[in-house]
Amino acid sequence: MVETAKIKIRKKEQSSLPQVDFSNIVFGRVFSDHMFVADYRDGEWEDLRIEPYEAMQLTPGLISLHYAQTIFEGLKAYKNDKGDVMVFRPEMNLKRLNISAERMCMPQLPEDIYMQGLSELLRLDRNWVPNLPNTALYIRPFMFGTDEYIGLKSSETYRFIIFTCPVGAYYSKPVKVKFERHFTRAAKGGTGFAKTGGNYAGSLYPAKLAQEKGYDQLIWTDGIEHEYVEEAGTMNIMFVIGDTLITPHPGDSVLKGITRDSVLTLARDWGMKVEERRIKTSEIVEAIKNNTLKEAFGVGTAATIAHISLIADDETDYPLPPVESREFSNKALKALDDIKTGVTEDKFNWIYKL
Ligand code: COI
Repeated sequence: MVETAKIKIRKKEQSSLPQVDFSNIVFGRVFSDHMFVADYRDGEWEDLRIEPYEAMQLTPGLISLHYAQTIFEGLKAYKNDKGDVMVFRPEMNLKRLNISAERMCMPQLPEDIYMQGLSELLRLDRNWVPNLPNTALYIRPFMFGTDEYIGLKSSETYRFIIFTCPVGAYYSKPVKVKFERHFTRAAKGGTGFAKTGGNYAGSLYPAKLAQEKGYDQLIWTDGIEHEYVEEAGTMNIMFVIGDTLITPHPGDSVLKGITRDSVLTLARDWGMKVEERRIKTSEIVEAIKNNTLKEAFGVGTAATIAHISLIADDETDYPLPPVESREFSNKALKALDDIKTGVTEDKFNWIYKL
């Protein structure tokens, strides 16, 4: 790793760790003691520091609060049986953060600042990395414009932060989803491939309407014909039809998920047939009707693999095969867990050990 300017560290006086019940953690509600912060001014990242996780003073005129020049990432750290902290594919998140930054007209974050900030933060808060089954330390790097300016232009100053949260399961049970044929998550030529706040804000209202009808999330379809499957809620989506793993090709309206890439890599390594291509909603309904659809699941960092128990098309609900019968997704979930916690060899070089 390249040495960067020294990171100043201001420790929290009293850790909040004793108040955390690791056997009962709600996703995204518990925050570790510290955060890494860097500020961008005059074309340079500077003032690298680790400080207590706490409220920040922000001006009401903060440009990103108005025009959403914000990007974020999500990755996870685990512990192996020796207590070493293992981070899953952190370099992939930096790559995607910088792809998002380019699309949103924001500065690139250099690898040395990201890796050094992340490593120092995890070293300091290593006791926050849980080791119970189905738990992890969720890591949230993000960047936002910090100019005080009311008018549309890209900010000249930015803040980059990494904070962490010990988490349990994102979904407590398999999810019921519905094809969304009216609203659009991301348009061709839009920002769907970037991990930017606005994509998520725009998805809330359609998801709320689906939840009012008893579904957990939506299967987003393309913004032109609403005929082709794109994502499931905040995750990528995969199907096993016959003996083939099928997932939408990541164009500019689909986020290129790191869990997606990991699951596809495992499937190919196991000799499974894999297709990344356009998938019509009618193909899925046909496969359910003729019993060739064996599995459907979402893949993402927060949930890892979220089994889909039911897909609705217009007014018809189609229950899917029981989760226990799903050979591929159960095997992939176990394989990922075993790699992340050091139970099996890291043959793809996915783990960054602190
Ligand atoms: C993730 O899966 O890490 C995400 O960023 C989705 C978010 C809604 C938790």
